[in-house]
Amino acid sequence: MMAWTDRHCRYLHRLAAPRALLFTEMITANALLHGPAERLLRFDPEEHPVAIQLGGSDPNDLARAARLAEQAGYDEINLNVGCPSPRVREGRFGACLMLEPGLVRDCIGAMAAAVRVPVTIKCRLGVDAADSDELLDRFIETTAAGGCRVYYIHARKALLAGLTPAQNRAVPPLQYDRAYRLRARFPALRFIVNGGVEDCAAVARHLEHVDGVMIGRTAYHNPGRLAAMHTAVYGGHPVDSWSLMRAYLGYVERELALGTPLNDMTRHALGVFAGLPGARRYRRMLSDSTRLRANDPALLEDALACLDRAVA
Ligand SMILES: Cc1cc2nc3c(=O)[nH]c(=O)nc-3n(C[C@H](O)[C@H](O)[C@H](O)COP(=O)(O)O)c2cc1C
Repeated sequence: MMAWTDRHCRYLHRLAAPRALLFTEMITANALLHGPAERLLRFDPEEHPVAIQLGGSDPNDLARAARLAEQAGYDEINLNVGCPSPRVREGRFGACLMLEPGLVRDCIGAMAAAVRVPVTIKCRLGVDAADSDELLDRFIETTAAGGCRVYYIHARKALLAGLTPAQNRAVPPLQYDRAYRLRARFPALRFIVNGGVEDCAAVARHLEHVDGVMIGRTAYHNPGRLAAMHTAVYGGHPVDSWSLMRAYLGYVERELALGTPLNDMTRHALGVFAGLPGARRYRRMLSDSTRLRANDPALLEDALACLDRAVA
C-alpha cells in the first residue's frame, strides 16, 4: 500500500503471518528502470514468499522491470490494474487499464515471457459504467490468454471521475458475489478476494467461495488481527503481540545498526496493541518525535514497558 507499507512493514507482517504471501506497494516500471532500483527492490530473506507489484502499461518496460524483480528474488510479479488515482490514470496504468484488456494481455504476455515466476493481476470489478459481468469476463478471458492464472479482485468497481483514491476504497459498494462468480466461471484460474475483510469469520466465509483472501488496511492498522486471521487460514495459534514485538525489536536493532531511522520501523508497529489496555500510552510514546530522532531502540523497550505496567 503506497505511502504506508515498505520492507520494514512486511517484516513485521511476516512475523504476524508466517505463511501469508506478502506484497510490495506498487512500484512503477519506470521507477525501477530509471530510478534507485537497488533500494526499491531490497527485501529481507525472511519476507519470502513475497510478490512485487508493478505499475505500468508498456509491455517492454514491464518485461524489463519484471526481470529485474525476478533477479532480485521476488516470488511473484503482480500487475496493478486497480489503482484509481488521477496521476496513475494520467500515466495510462492502474484501474483505467481494465478498459484495455488487449493491452493488459500484451503486458502480461511480455512479463510472463521474461520471467519464470508467476505473473498475476490485481484488479477491480470494473471502472465507471464499464462494470458488467460480461466486460469483467472479457477482461479475465483476454488477460488469461496472456498467461495470467491468479487474480486478486478488489471486489468493488473504481470510479475514475469525482472520487479520491481513499473514497474509491470506501464509496463503491463491495460486491463479493461477483468475485465468487468468477471462480465458477473460470475454474482453471485462481481468484483471491480483497476489500473490507476485517475479521476471522469473514476470512472463513470468503474461503468457502474463493481461493484466498487479501487483507490491506486491517493488517496495517492491527497486525495482531492479521495474526488471528492467519490462523483462520493455516490453523495453529496466533503469535501474541508481545512475542511479535520482541521479535520485531531484534530486527529493529539490526536495522538501526545499518543506519535505518527508528521511525521508519516503529511507525508500522503503532497498531500492534490496538484495543488492549495501555495501547494509547504505547502509541504516544512511540510517536515522540524527539526521542525517535535519537534512534535509540530503548524507546521501543520503554513503550513496551509502559504497556506492561498498564496490563499488570
Ligand atoms: C494507503 C493505501 C495505499 C494503497 N496502495 C495500493 C497499492 O500500491 N497497490 C494496490 O494494489 N492497492 C493499494 N491499495 C489498496 C489496497 O491494496 C486494497 O485493495 C484496498 O485497501 C481494499 O482492501 P482492504 O479493505 O483490505 O484495505 C492501497 C490502499 C491504501 C489504504
